Amino acid sequence: MIGQAKRLAELVKNETQNHAAANKKIFAVASGKGGTGKSFFILNYGYQLSKMGKRVLLIDLDSNLANIDIMLNISSEKTIGDFLQNRVLLRDLPTEVRPNFNIIFGDSGKLKLPEKRREIIDYLFANIRRLAHDYDKILIDTGAGVQLDGLYLLSKTDAITLIINPDPTSVMDGYALTKLLFNEFGKREIGVVVNKCDNDEEGETTFGNINTATTHFLKTELYHLGNINYHHDVYKAIKDQVIFSEEYSESTVANQIMKISMAS
Ligand SMILES: Nc1ncnc2c1ncn2[C@@H]1O[C@H](COP(=O)(O)OP(=O)(O)OP(=O)(O)O)[C@@H](O)[C@H]1O
Ligand SMILES: [Mg+2]
Repeated sequence: MIGQAKRLAELVKNETQNHAAANKKIFAVASGKGGTGKSFFILNYGYQLSKMGKRVLLIDLDSNLANIDIMLNISSEKTIGDFLQNRVLLRDLPTEVRPNFNIIFGDSGKLKLPEKRREIIDYLFANIRRLAHDYDKILIDTGAGVQLDGLYLLSKTDAITLIINPDPTSVMDGYALTKLLFNEFGKREIGVVVNKCDNDEEGETTFGNINTATTHFLKTELYHLGNINYHHDVYKAIKDQVIFSEEYSESTVANQIMKISMAS
């Protein structure tokens, strides 16, 4: 146990030193309310980046409803839970699902984190940063909501992409999450993707609404990364357990995701 504590202390120290080298490499999706399209976006964004030749690692850290494995119809033999229970090394977990596109799967409903969750998150991120040299981007899927551990997890990343929808509750919840992140952990770089839009104009208006609120009340501008239209084929792709951007590569939605990938 003492050995483990020492190792943890060393890893956390190294994390700070490695941070500059791995600058802006680790980014997470977040949302105030559930179902805004975080998992859909990050899976397709990651796929698109890998198609562009980037080495991508996607980690499913939604501890309640991890479902990237289901979206891909892959039954994961080893998950992040095996790492947290000291059964495997983190670097042995990634599965290459497409060339350059690697995934560490989550533990749906099974991940019972013991006490001292912040220490565990520190330990996890120290290990994630040790993998950073092997990848161009490390993408983290998270659960919805504003519980403190979730916020702490977000605070450990280099950048956060808020996924919101055009309805007013989603905008309000997105603003509430942004405010909590600011108040708890100081100013963060937060990008916004407006998903499930009727059209681009609706996306622009929605971004304008949340950005007006953060500019006015938090004195900070958000970054508008892009809009993604609502399309029933997205639901179909998830039902069919295929990667949308691969299966519907010529669609407007796939092109919108490609545009966001090219800008980042
Ligand atoms: N652009 C879109 N057009 C149509 N449907 C979409 C779009 N994006 C996501 N969806 C649908 O919304 C639902 C929720 O998507 P997803 O699981 O990606 O959300 P989430 O934010 O990860 O949810 P959770 O908070 O539960 O993790 C899915 O049924 C998906 O099909
Ligand atoms: Mg999800």
